[in-house]
Amino acid sequence: MDLIDAIKGRRSIRKYRPDPVSEEVLQKVMDALRWTPSWANTQCWEVIVVKDPRGKTELLEAVSETNPAFSSIMEAPLLLILCGKKGIAGYYKGQPRTVKGDWLMFDSGLAMQNLCLAAYALGLGTVIIGAFDHKKAEKILGLPQDVEVVAMTPLGYPASKGATPRRKEISEFVYYEKYRGK
Ligand SMILES: Cc1cc2nc3c(=O)[nH]c(=O)nc-3n(C[C@H](O)[C@H](O)[C@H](O)COP(=O)(O)O)c2cc1C
Repeated sequence: MDLIDAIKGRRSIRKYRPDPVSEEVLQKVMDALRWTPSWANTQCWEVIVVKDPRGKTELLEAVSETNPAFSSIMEAPLLLILCGKKGIAGYYKGQPRTVKGDWLMFDSGLAMQNLCLAAYALGLGTVIIGAFDHKKAEKILGLPQDVEVVAMTPLGYPASKGATPRRKEISEFVYYEKYRGK
């Protein structure tokens, strides 16, 4: 699949078929994530694969029923939880290198995009879920202090296509030379 076509064609999928995702296909998605660029190649990400419906049911406690992706958590055969190790991305000798502090969210975001695009190229669907109780999820998943949950996504074969939300025009966010140009 052409990369530009994948970037433009990928949509958030909130309806899934129950068909299983093979370990081979999952590994392909994880391999694409593995090649994500990161701060000084620090690769702060970690992924928890939740397959057991009991584990997914437990995690539902951390997600509001009003979240549009709520039902997709149980529908899809897999739920991937993207985590990040704190104090690595953007740090040198234990000190943050920039005013931004930890670049964990940035590098994890790149990793999630690689995951979603690879999944799409393999005929799978994803929907990034960021609106949930992270602290509750961390407790349920048994995360240590130095790791945090960033986002999650179901992974499975789409039951229906996602709608295409409107994008801003390029002229609405690109400026030349200075902010807002002249
Ligand atoms: C950081 C982040 C958090 C998101 N959180 C949620 C969420 O909690 N629930 C949901 O249904 N969609 C969530 N989304 C999906 C967005 O709503 C979706 O990407 C956006 O509307 C554009 O649609 P598209 O992905 O189909 O292009 C999230 C996306 C991102 C990038």
